[in-house]
Amino acid sequence: MSLAFYVFPEHSTQQQSGRAILPGDKLIGQSCNKHIAQSTWRGCWLHPKHLWKFGLSSFLRTGTCDTLVDTPRIVSLLKQWRAYGLPSNRLFLDLRSESAYHAHRILPSTNIPMPGLEYRCSELPAKQWPFAIMEPLDHRGTASQWLTDRGWNCRWIFWEGDFIHNAELWNDLQTLGLAEDNASNQSWLLFTPCPILETSIDLIETDLRKFNREPLSCLDIGCGSGRDLAWLLARKTETNVPIWQAVAIDSSEGAVQRTRIICKNMAMANQLISGINAKVLVNGDWRLVEKGNPGLAVKDGQTKRLMPGYPTLQFFTQEIQRLLNHQIPPQYDMIITIRFLARSILPQLPQLLKPGGFLIISHFVDHEDYTYDQPRPEHRLQVDELANLYGSMPGINIIVDKLEHVEDGRPVNSFIIRKDREA
Ligand SMILES: C[S@@+](CC[C@H](N)C(=O)[O-])C[C@H]1O[C@@H](n2cnc3c(N)ncnc32)[C@H](O)[C@@H]1O
Repeated sequence: MSLAFYVFPEHSTQQQSGRAILPGDKLIGQSCNKHIAQSTWRGCWLHPKHLWKFGLSSFLRTGTCDTLVDTPRIVSLLKQWRAYGLPSNRLFLDLRSESAYHAHRILPSTNIPMPGLEYRCSELPAKQWPFAIMEPLDHRGTASQWLTDRGWNCRWIFWEGDFIHNAELWNDLQTLGLAEDNASNQSWLLFTPCPILETSIDLIETDLRKFNREPLSCLDIGCGSGRDLAWLLARKTETNVPIWQAVAIDSSEGAVQRTRIICKNMAMANQLISGINAKVLVNGDWRLVEKGNPGLAVKDGQTKRLMPGYPTLQFFTQEIQRLLNHQIPPQYDMIITIRFLARSILPQLPQLLKPGGFLIISHFVDHEDYTYDQPRPEHRLQVDELANLYGSMPGINIIVDKLEHVEDGRPVNSFIIRKDREA
C-alpha cells in the first residue's frame, strides 16, 4: 500500500507510474531541480521508492530543496492527523534528537531519536494504525521508507527541515494549540496494552489505592516484549508520580531482555524491580534459568545451568524473594498473565495476591464459533474453564469474564478475579 508521495511535473514521462490521489495521501516534497521546478505542477503522485529509480534520491538523502512546505500546508496536515479517528489522532512519532524534541514538539507526540529506532520497534503503534512522523533533517524520505518497508503505516509525514527553515512556524503552531516549546513532563505512548488491561485499569487502581500503599506491585508472568508492563509502569498519579512497580518473568531470556530495554528506554528502569528468566515446567514447578554459570546443559551453543524446580508458592516466597533481596513483599497487588497459559499454576496464583489483589488472565479460548490453528487446542482455555476453577474458590470474586478478540480475530477469554480483603 502506498503511503507517501511525490509530485512530478506535467511533462514528466514518469507520471505514467502515478495514480489518482486518495484521501490520506501526502506531498512529501518538491523537486530542487530547476528545470522541473519551473514546469507546471499537475499533481502526479508516486510512491517514494520510485524516486531512487528517477535519480531524485540525493534530494531525499540531503533534504536540500528550494521549495519548502509552508505553514498552511503543515497546519492543514496536522489538523487532518488530529481529526482522524482514535487512536491515530494521538499517534505522532518524532524521530528528531531528544534536544530538538524538548525545545519544541507537536502535541501530542512521542520521541524516539532515529539512531535508536531499530532497537525500539516494540514501542511503535500496531501496524494497522496510521500515524504521523517527523523525519529528522538528514533522513528525509528514508525514515518513512524504513518504517513502510517493515509494514508500519506512516500516513502523515513531516520533515524537520521545514520547521528549521521557517522561523515563525513553531510560534504559529503553539498559538493554534498544536505544539509546545520546552516540553513539559507529560509523555504519550504510541502503543496500547491488551484490551482487558486498558479497559479495567482505572477501576482496579481506584480500588487498590483506597487501601494499599503506592507504589502498587505487579507480577507479569510470560511478559514477552514487556509492552503491557511498560504501559502499566507509565501510569502516573494526579501529581505525576508513578503508580506501579513490577517484576517480569519469562522463560525466554530475549523476552526478559526486551522488557528491560523497553522500561529503560521509557525511563522506567527503576520501576522494574527485576526481570527474571524462569520457566514453568510441565508438572507446574518453576525453575530459574541462569546463564553463564558452569554448565549442566548446553543450549544454542551457550552454557545454561538449569536450577532445581520448585512448586509455585515456594518458588515465589523463597527463590524469587532471595533474588529480589526481599525488596518487595512476596504477594502482589496485581498479577497479569496475558496470552500465556500454564494450566498447572492457575490454582496457586491467588495465593500470590495481596488481600484485595487482582489477577488478570487473557488467553486464547477454544470456542465453537471460531476456527484457528495457533495455539493448538490443547494450549487454549476451554469455555468456562476459568469460571469453573475460580468460581468455586473461597474468598475469590470473579469481576470480569468475557470473550474478546485479538487483532486478527482469534477469540480470547479475558478474565479478572479479586481476592477478598479478609481472605
Ligand atoms: C505469546 S507470548 C505473550 C507475551 C505477552 N504476555 C503478550 O501478551 O504480548 C508468551 C510468552 O510466554 C513465554 N513462555 C512460554 N512458555 C513459558 C514457560 N513455560 N514459562 C515461562 N514463560 C513461558 C514465552 O517466552 C513468551 O514470551
